Amino acid sequence: MASPAAPLVIPAESFIKTLAESPNLTSIPSTYTYSTTPLVEPVVSGSEASIPIIDFSLLTSGSPDRRSQAIHDLGKACQDWGFFMVTNHGIPEGMIKGMIEGLEDFFNLREEEKKEFRGKHVLDPIRCGTSSFNTSAEQVFFWRDFLRVFVHPDFHFPNKPLGVRELSHEYCKRVREVYGELIRGISTSLGLEESYIHNTLNMEDGLQILVGNFYPPCPQPELAMGLPPHSDLGFLTLLIENQIGGLQIQHNHKWVNVKAIPNSFLVNTSDQLEILSNGKYKSNVHRATVNNKATRVSIAMANGPSLEDIVGPAPELIDNESNPPRYMPMKYKDYMELQQSNRLDGKTCLDCVKIQRDQV
Ligand code: OGA
Ligand code: NI
Repeated sequence: MASPAAPLVIPAESFIKTLAESPNLTSIPSTYTYSTTPLVEPVVSGSEASIPIIDFSLLTSGSPDRRSQAIHDLGKACQDWGFFMVTNHGIPEGMIKGMIEGLEDFFNLREEEKKEFRGKHVLDPIRCGTSSFNTSAEQVFFWRDFLRVFVHPDFHFPNKPLGVRELSHEYCKRVREVYGELIRGISTSLGLEESYIHNTLNMEDGLQILVGNFYPPCPQPELAMGLPPHSDLGFLTLLIENQIGGLQIQHNHKWVNVKAIPNSFLVNTSDQLEILSNGKYKSNVHRATVNNKATRVSIAMANGPSLEDIVGPAPELIDNESNPPRYMPMKYKDYMELQQSNRLDGKTCLDCVKIQRDQV
């Protein structure tokens, strides 16, 4: 139990929720100070910047004209933004709400119960903890607790709270269906066969990772960060949240606040899509800010190739004269290990596989 006289230092293995709930907390410990001066980078609101919206029902409506228009919009969103919201995806509102509540209940379990799920290695199928993607390499802690679970091809999930595991199993399956359809559209938009990505990579065994994020209220939100700027692993991340807001995406050198359409998916294009498209669809850099009023819960679903797949630029898109390969092929498993052994910092991991042509 935290006593009011206790110093504001918590062991790294404690959860941020415990710190955030300590009585009379008015300032953050220095280890959580992401920026010593309030962040002043330009921020614009999402509505001003008109974040692309993809109506999923047009992709699947059966009308060729509507589908081509939706594919065109999808390609443009990937190219111009690396980010879009997906509406009318058919996953019931109740299921989305149930997932958010289920994850919130998980984070509200007692510390001892959560600690049972503390994995250490990046390839551990269930890992729960605080702050960072990789606590050993991070110098600053982030205002976030997380639960990170491999849910496909083998389904893992904590067995508590009651019923959340079963709901998650169904939800992950539904998300994979939406993701599969989006990937078909994206494949077509790149000028490839609709099933190109499915067929050349082992999509049936694609690794799907569920990441639950819990950001409690923070007394000095302008000095702390929930998640620092980063791009995601895999092809596409589909995220839902409890409408508190906090996600910011980078666009034209500015941070854009994302105000989610209720029940929509917030979709980031990720590193493996940038590599496969040889840089045409750049992975999106984003971060999560925190606030001093309400707990934000988000669930990111990172969908990628299988761990054994080697991802490089699609040969069909390469032309040694006009479009030479810009990335070195790498096994997804190695890419994951590389990302997790680095500090989370923008796109440093992707830079490791980039072929630096300008210097040649
Ligand atoms: C992530 C992520 C952002 C958010 O989990 O990779 O970027 O808004 N989350 O929680
Ligand atoms: Ni992310």
